[in-house]
Amino acid sequence: MRVTGTVRVPGDKSISHRALILGALSTGTGRVRGVLDSADVRATAGVLRALGAGVPALSPDMPVTGKGTRALRQAAGPLDCANSGTSARLMAGVLAGHPFTSTLVGDASLSRRPMQRVARPLAAMGASFELAPGGTLPMTVHGTELASIEWTSEAASAQVKSALLLAGLVAGVEVTVREPSRSRDHTERMLAARGAEVWVNEQAVMLWPTGALDAADVDVPGDPSSAAFFVAVASLASEGTLTLPEVGLNETRIGFLKALVRMGGAIAVEDERQAGGEPVGTLRASAGPLRGVRIGGDEVPSLIDELPLLACLAAHAEGETEIRGAAELRVKESDRIAAVVENLRAVGADADELPDGMVVRGADRPLRGAIRTHGDHRIAMAFGVLGTREGNEVAVDDPACVDVSYPSFWRDLARVTGA
Ligand code: S3P
Repeated sequence: MRVTGTVRVPGDKSISHRALILGALSTGTGRVRGVLDSADVRATAGVLRALGAGVPALSPDMPVTGKGTRALRQAAGPLDCANSGTSARLMAGVLAGHPFTSTLVGDASLSRRPMQRVARPLAAMGASFELAPGGTLPMTVHGTELASIEWTSEAASAQVKSALLLAGLVAGVEVTVREPSRSRDHTERMLAARGAEVWVNEQAVMLWPTGALDAADVDVPGDPSSAAFFVAVASLASEGTLTLPEVGLNETRIGFLKALVRMGGAIAVEDERQAGGEPVGTLRASAGPLRGVRIGGDEVPSLIDELPLLACLAAHAEGETEIRGAAELRVKESDRIAAVVENLRAVGADADELPDGMVVRGADRPLRGAIRTHGDHRIAMAFGVLGTREGNEVAVDDPACVDVSYPSFWRDLARVTGA
């Protein structure tokens, strides 16, 4: 299969959530350009609206109006985060510092995911929580005056780190978060851009007590996690090049691109520059053979969401690929270790689960069969990409679940592959 053309991938999901949340906590109106209009970001917008924030319907150039860091009002009912872990965990931090009670709920998948990781440190700051027996949603947050905190996370998690920074912002107290390795840093960048005093090094981030937050415009870059699917499509093709303009290239997000280079992938970065406080650039990805790779250690947070896709590429790479240190994959939108291995086997690939990752042995033979997404957008897209390789045929049971992060995925895929 020959690939050709340009894909403008939709706005970054992590940055879109944060642009709405920080906009709603700022003083005045800022514009958000290029927000991701997907189910996850609509969930955050809906939660903020229910709390009285000035967040209109999502559109390509939208205003967001805030009345200050602690001006949200109690909602009339439960706050529905749908499938979105980022909505639930970041909003838990925001709500912990507001003096009223809120209940966060979500869909079946989100209601299986661990929430203690935010409830524990936020409780240490003074808020109280009621969770379902497994430490999951529904989660009731009794917000209050909060104390400052110094917290060491067991695992690198931008959602936990951001929840604590947002709680500190709302409460006007100092927050220090240490992580074993660096998670994505969009919250820190955006807080600093709005006038908050944030200090960052490799091991820790610290937020000084903040009064008001300035309103600011946000230009949302293309999501590197969405771009990764098209970089992979190009790698699997028999010839051709795909161009992906305006992709976010934040160091904490480009682990997949670095791993693909180690696999022998042909990727060029052009027109690199800063836009709205984040590095962006144009990616050009071309067809070419890949070899197996070892993934583990500190790099894992920088490609955690791309590991299902990397495993699909590994199925056609020469030799073995081993992914370790990624037990977090078991508590994403699905158990992504089990789902990836089950589905790779279903299409005829050779893969085994590890407690904290997987092993995939690559081969050149065609892969054919039906896969189960478990309602997980990244499983659907990773196997959709695998199906584009010449000779492969992959049927995806629930293609519509991509709406969570990339609603136009199948259309873009069909366009560049001529399918
Ligand atoms: C996200 C952080 C990551 C990532 C998720 C989005 C964020 O999760 O997997 O898709 O926007 O903060 P963790 O913080 O749980 O690692």
